Amino acid sequence: MEPTPESLLRKTLRAFAPYKPGTSVDEVRRRYGIEHPVKLSQNENPLGSSPRALEAMRGIAALSDYVADDHRGIKARLAERYGLGPEHVILGHGSNELVQLTFSAFVDAGDDAVMAKPTFALFKKDSDIFGARAIEVPLKDGVHDLTGMLAAVTPRTKLVFVCDPNNPTGTRVEPAALADFATRLPAGVLLVLDQAYREFMDAGGSEGVDILKRRSATLVLRTASKIYGLAAVRFGYGYSSPEVVAWMNSVRLPFNVARPAAVAVLAALDDAEFIARSIANNEEGKKYLQDEFARLGLHVYPTAANFVSVEVPVEADVAYGELLERGIIVRSGDGLGTPRRLRVSIGTSAENRSFIEALETLLTRWRARPAVGSVR
Ligand SMILES: Cc1ncc(COP(=O)(O)O)c(C=O)c1O
Repeated sequence: MEPTPESLLRKTLRAFAPYKPGTSVDEVRRRYGIEHPVKLSQNENPLGSSPRALEAMRGIAALSDYVADDHRGIKARLAERYGLGPEHVILGHGSNELVQLTFSAFVDAGDDAVMAKPTFALFKKDSDIFGARAIEVPLKDGVHDLTGMLAAVTPRTKLVFVCDPNNPTGTRVEPAALADFATRLPAGVLLVLDQAYREFMDAGGSEGVDILKRRSATLVLRTASKIYGLAAVRFGYGYSSPEVVAWMNSVRLPFNVARPAAVAVLAALDDAEFIARSIANNEEGKKYLQDEFARLGLHVYPTAANFVSVEVPVEADVAYGELLERGIIVRSGDGLGTPRRLRVSIGTSAENRSFIEALETLLTRWRARPAVGSVR
């Protein structure tokens, strides 16, 4: 077979690489012969999936028919939580798909999308795919610089992304500052508030509903992948004005949400015990890690999510590689726009302890090496 010429590919995509999820548990087993690696790299729920969701999925009688694509039951149930109607809710194959739908529905080539730097990588990647200009505004002390982002808005801006809590830093925006920012944003700009980790934040954080009620071009994104432990079924949802929802629905693929996902999520929403246990585990792990980082003299951003961004005294890739050899899988900040930091998911107490033990051993070694300047 002749090789397929690269000229086939759209010019803008020739420098693109597929998403790299980080090293898998299987790979660490194979490479280092470690039977039980500790995976703290994808911000998953360390307690597994909502038991109610798993039970509901086992009860599915048939998969031969197409789902009712309006998913009215689950939309009504989600809308009710925010005092909205089902016409305010859009469902996606993970919230990733909903990010992409904002570009499909609203962005022409040459339009702008404003976002923080660093933030969730998909915002920039989708901008590139759709031929939009990604305007990246540096974080200030790890936090969204809302003043800077507002100043970056131009007449060509269609989308503004605020990731709250922010991936990869874990930091949150202050609700009052966010509300003020939203008021000042031009009416023709869609404010996309990505709240994939909102359930781990305390009640004081914004849920975006008040903003939406005042400003219809607002879309809040949530996911079942994190608190409900359902990353593998792919389910995300958003709430916005009925117009925004209808426009996004007009470009989405039919049947994008599979029945197992809808059935699982409907059950998970009522699994108060699992949700409470997940939050309690996260709070305990957060406190333990923050205390340990303080003891070890490592800077960490205050986190409102289920992961932390911690500074290390060596190149992030080096720290990542040496932890990997010990069976601890984290994310290197080098690939996330946070050099000399690691992004570490909060695990079970045993996993957190294993991570700290490995880190402490390595720190002694790293600190004995010639000093490297601190970058924040
Ligand atoms: C900020 C943020 N938004 C969205 C997502 C995607 O979630 P989903 O699994 O629903 O596509 C992630 C996943 O890690 C994330 O970190």
